Order: sequence, then C-alpha cells, then structure tokens
Amino acid sequence: MNGFRSWDLILSTAEIILNHSTDRITIRQPDDWHVHLRDGAILEAVLPSTSRVFHRAVVMPNLNSPITSLDKAVAYRKQIENLIPKGHDFKPLMTLYLTDDISPDIINDGFNQGEIFAAKLYPANSTTNSSSGVTDIKAIDPLFAMMESIGMPLLIHGEVTDPDVDIFDREAIFIERELIPLLSRHQGLRVVLEHITTKDAVQFVEDFSGNLAATITPHHLHINRNAMLANGFRSDFYCLPVAKRELHRLALRRAATSGKECFFLGTDSAPHVRGAKESACGCAGIFNAPVALQSYAEVFDEEDALDRLEGFTSLFGPKFYRLPINKNFISLVKQTYIVPESLDVINHDNSIERIVPFHASKKLKWTLSV
Ligand code: DOR
Ligand code: ZN
Repeated sequence: MNGFRSWDLILSTAEIILNHSTDRITIRQPDDWHVHLRDGAILEAVLPSTSRVFHRAVVMPNLNSPITSLDKAVAYRKQIENLIPKGHDFKPLMTLYLTDDISPDIINDGFNQGEIFAAKLYPANSTTNSSSGVTDIKAIDPLFAMMESIGMPLLIHGEVTDPDVDIFDREAIFIERELIPLLSRHQGLRVVLEHITTKDAVQFVEDFSGNLAATITPHHLHINRNAMLANGFRSDFYCLPVAKRELHRLALRRAATSGKECFFLGTDSAPHVRGAKESACGCAGIFNAPVALQSYAEVFDEEDALDRLEGFTSLFGPKFYRLPINKNFISLVKQTYIVPESLDVINHDNSIERIVPFHASKKLKWTLSV
C-alpha cells in the first residue's frame, strides 16, 4: 500500500465515524497558489493530499536540482501529471527558479509555450534549496523587465539574508530594502509577496496601489513563535519565514478574513521527512496539505468570517492571476476531524519514512466532505 492509500483510508474512516453534525459550507473549489510538491517518493506520497482538494496549484521550483530551465519545468510537470490519482481533476502550474544568470529568453519561451506560469525569486540562501538563488536582485532587472512586458507574475520569498539582520526582522527589512525599490523600478510587474508573516507586510500590501498581492499560510494564522520555541524546540513548527510574535499573527488573521482581494490562499505546504526535520540542521517547512482547507476554515470560523472564506480560498487568487474561477464546488462540514499523526513515504528501496502534518494528532472542527 502506498502513502496515498493509507492516508486516504484514515481520512475516510474519520469522516464516516464522526459524521454527526449538521453545519455545512459549500464553496467554489479552491486553488493552492503556493505549494511544494517535491519529486520522487515524497511527491508520490504528498500529491494526492493537494490534488484531492485543489484544482490548480502553483508548484514551487526549489527541488534539490532546481527548475532553472524550460526542459526541467516540462519534465517536472509530466512527473507530477503521471502521479495524479484517478478522479482528481488537478492542474499543476509550473514556476521557474530565478538565478543570477538565467536568460530572459527562457522566461519568454516558457511563458509563450504555456509551460511556465510564474517565476520565483529566492534571495540566495534564504530558505530550503535556495543556494542557487539570486545574490543581487537589482542585477536581474532585465529578467523583471521581460516578465513585465509579457505579463508573467513574479513570486517572492521576501526575506533579506544579511547575517546582520535578526531573523525575526528579515521580512520587514526586505520590504524596505528590496521590495519597494523593485516595485518602483518595474511598475507594471505583477508581484506576489509569498507567505507573509508580519503586520508590516500586511500594511504594505494593503496600502500599495499597484499590482501587488500576498499569500497567507494556514500555519502563520494558527501559530506564533512560542509554538516553535517555548517548552522545548519544536522543529515541526519551524518554517521560513519563521512565525513571529502574537501581534503579527493577529494582523495576518485580520488580513486573511478581511475580504480584501490582495490577500489569498497559498498553503506553502512544505513536506520534509522526520529525519530531515530533526537533524542537526533541521529543514524549514510545514506539511499542511492534508489539513490546509480545514485549518483555514477553523480560522475563519473563529473570526466569525466564514462568509469570507470562499473569496480567500477560491476567488481572489484567480482574479489576481487573471484565470477563470473553478466550476466545481467543495463542502466542509462542522464535525470533529482527528488529524492523523503521520503520512508514510515509501522510498524506492521500499524503506519507509514519515512526514508529520500540521495539526498532527489534534482535533479540527471542520472536515472535508468529498
Ligand atoms: O518553510 C519553508 N519551507 N519555507 C520556504 O520558503 C521553503 C520551504 C521548503 O521548500 O521546504
Ligand atoms: Zn514555499
């Protein structure tokens, strides 16, 4: 039995056993505008969690061998498509990993051929597999100019990597040092500031009157930095940008539930096997795909904003990306869902590793009804 089947069985069992509630919400099928699917055995294990719920997903290019060419993007798309379970109507949207020396032609060709949906800017060494990222953002202005002229969106991991800047300030400083100048140099560029974590980013995106939006993850809506650092170091809650103080979490919750079109869903689901999370240099990333929608629903419920859930999950993203909204609908029911403690990854040598999901072993109040 592969990882997908065992997970799916657990989900169905939980849904059947605990099916005793009446509250139900039905929304347009959502898209995930920021996800890490990885490749190989991890891809095989995690993909169904995303493709079961989301119709489209913007797939991050930071593989061990990053997606830096059109050929790699096409091969990766095919690898994903070959693993989509029967009955899941899922479309991966591929991204290009920007480096110091990528040619603008790749952007142009990839976009015109419909193979590359967006480009991802990782400041070098800002996060997982970003060592080939960009060392000098201004120096790749010709790439941004090309994207601006053809209409390709730019997705940004917004943190400076200057060792003199405190890790909790890296996002706010990035906005001042890099994002504001970039947006003023390229006023026609459509930009998404990914996985925002601060009140500073919320305020900046809200106030900016150009083509700027932000994605917000489920985990940054649920946890502050205490989850990771109080009562022992908990690598399960370590991600980048790191969760900040409570006041930032509250600002993110207000933004996500505000009904403002500049904030939309991007899970940043980022699976790492247990050993990689718990090693001497633990990997950043939280695997939330199996629980993302339920987790967002819980936040909107707590904020008394369930009527705004659909905008955030299913309408504002397509509007920003100029894509049609999805035709299908999906329902959530208010019934207790106990999140499984892990997902199995079956390696190609048949060894098994585990990935621990966000909210592992916890009770959530909303369950998918599919
Ligand atoms: O926590 C994170 N994990 N943040 C990122 O930016 C990358 C991601 C990953 O690829 O693991
Ligand atoms: Zn990410």
